[in-house]
Amino acid sequence: MSQADSLQVFTPPADFVSQATISGMEAYRALCAEAEKDYAGFWARLAREHLSWKVPFTRVLDESNAPFFRWFDDGVLNVSYNCLDRNIEAGLGDKTAIIFESDDGSVSRISYRELLARVSRFANALKASGVRKGDRVVIYLPMSVEGVVAMQACARIGATHSVVFGGFSAQSLRDRINDAGAVFLITADGQCRGGKALPLKPIADEALAMGGCESIKKVVVWQRTGADCAMQAGRDVFWGDFVAGQSDVCEPEWVEAEHPLFLLYTSGSTGKPKGVQHSTGGYLLHAVLTMKWTFDLKPDDVFWCTADIGWVTGHTYIAYGPLACGGTQIVFEGVPTYPDAGRFWRMVQDHKASIFYTAPTAVRSLIKAAEATPTVHPRNYDLSSLRLLGSVGEPINPAAWMWFYENVGGSRCPIVDTFWQTETGGHMITPLPGVTPLVPGSCTLPFPGIQAAVVDETGTELDWGKGGILVVKRPWPAMIRTIWGDPERFKRSYYPDDFAGQLYLAGDGAMRDAQTGYFTITGRIDDVLNVSGHRMGTMEIESALVSHPLVAEAAVVGRPDDLTGEAICAFVVLKGVRPEGDAAKKVIKDLQDHVGKEIGPIAKPKDIRFGENLPKTRSGKIMRRLLRSLAKGEEVTQDTSTLENPAILDQLKRNVA
Ligand code: PRX
Repeated sequence: MSQADSLQVFTPPADFVSQATISGMEAYRALCAEAEKDYAGFWARLAREHLSWKVPFTRVLDESNAPFFRWFDDGVLNVSYNCLDRNIEAGLGDKTAIIFESDDGSVSRISYRELLARVSRFANALKASGVRKGDRVVIYLPMSVEGVVAMQACARIGATHSVVFGGFSAQSLRDRINDAGAVFLITADGQCRGGKALPLKPIADEALAMGGCESIKKVVVWQRTGADCAMQAGRDVFWGDFVAGQSDVCEPEWVEAEHPLFLLYTSGSTGKPKGVQHSTGGYLLHAVLTMKWTFDLKPDDVFWCTADIGWVTGHTYIAYGPLACGGTQIVFEGVPTYPDAGRFWRMVQDHKASIFYTAPTAVRSLIKAAEATPTVHPRNYDLSSLRLLGSVGEPINPAAWMWFYENVGGSRCPIVDTFWQTETGGHMITPLPGVTPLVPGSCTLPFPGIQAAVVDETGTELDWGKGGILVVKRPWPAMIRTIWGDPERFKRSYYPDDFAGQLYLAGDGAMRDAQTGYFTITGRIDDVLNVSGHRMGTMEIESALVSHPLVAEAAVVGRPDDLTGEAICAFVVLKGVRPEGDAAKKVIKDLQDHVGKEIGPIAKPKDIRFGENLPKTRSGKIMRRLLRSLAKGEEVTQDTSTLENPAILDQLKRNVA
């Protein structure tokens, strides 16, 4: 059966269509046809029209060293110039670039002129301390204007930033600094979330003390909470002192289009997190195009992406995209449930947000909150400023979609369900709001120029209606360039030999609707979990568990969770006797805390179960499919005849917690 038969279809409202930048299906088809006919010409035209180049490119796509594709590679530009200076030159100097709302509700507004001055001062300070083009700078900051300033300042001088989410542990920070060989760390004394001040600098200190971070020459500390923090003489400097006396004029470092703008670490199915390397020109192009086409950003919009700058969404749709389009955006420090779960709706009302982009997990938790406490229901707020909603990070279930549509969007605002990844740089499969009839739960059709397909294990494209593997058939400008320091892993992970190295493997399963060809993402096909829209590798969590002195062996799987999409479920074999009752509960808590400390609180397993062994085949392979059934609480119906130790299943069925 077709999706369209089973679910309601929401056609774009006429008044949206009439003003949309890409208006109507014909316009969308024309763009797709243009790309089909002359792929390089299509992207070249857009790159000329939407970006400002210091030296125009003459080459478009270089496939000679595939899959290490190069785009616009003899062109020269600067991202920070494109985001700041060119808007000021266009007369937007006094326009508000950022409306910042802090955890405690205080609001400040920063104009483009002021933002450029702050970025330039910080950029000059970095240069004065010896940071050069190509140096890596790790940014470990909370959601703040300073975070955006630090990222833009790196871009301005051609330093490659690597932002580490403020919820990651000392160990995770240390590993990222070490892998990137970073020369600078930019952090804060602490962060404010949900009315609490949490430490950050002490975690950074712990990371630096672990060894392996010898490349770090300086640590800049933004004083956010005012907490006392130890400052190491000669290494650590407060932000205020660092920028003191610096000029607010800084000539951008003009870099070639392929210059690495940033690294962002993300989880894979094996090994340590990988440093996804993004380019300057191609990346920025996609950020701009998706802002204009997916979000239909217009000069009067107030755009709000609720992601953290520690994730790719916060890179493309906070630090770069909105600014490169001269937009006004909200940057929010806090959490959706403080002081109450009406926070998002109150902020939309107060700042007259017109485009609101968030994650399904946030929507689901706010549905639950609104059901429990009617005063925080969105109907209590004036949300009439909204004209477009967006979703990202995980599949949005149709029930959450409908609630979002009706209660937040007033049944008036299209929802763009944007499928993409850290590696893709920007939206890949997404509705365009003035074009695409919407079907809840489907990310619909590829962004113009993106050649997505569903294939079988041999790489053969499947008929619509059949589930398979999501791939992208042609390189696109914003794609990952390599994995930092590990080009072989890049090839293996994304251009595997199974597909003759010709197809980009997203790592997700997908199905196209039999009639409309709409894509639905069916979830990861590798050992990557998606918890509240955050990617976690099962191996990473297993390694963290086995690093605990009590643990002999561990296997981690996901199970569906109403709130977080997936929940982490760990099966653990302890070295000593298997604990029962309260003793087991205590060990569970210890192990959860241990994983929190090793990786970060987001990686804590929700369920932990103990067995004397794990279900293994006679050849010693853990049968993860069985574990997935157990985690879900399903009866095990799979064939267990190859199991070495069937009795173990009974032990693992029981959930102590
Ligand atoms: O599984 C897909 C899921 O999130 C993965 C990418 O995670 P990450 O690199 O952390 O980037 C998240 C923000 C772009 C994908 O492989 N995913 C992301 N967006 C969607 C999605 N799954 C379904 N629908 C989406 N809209």
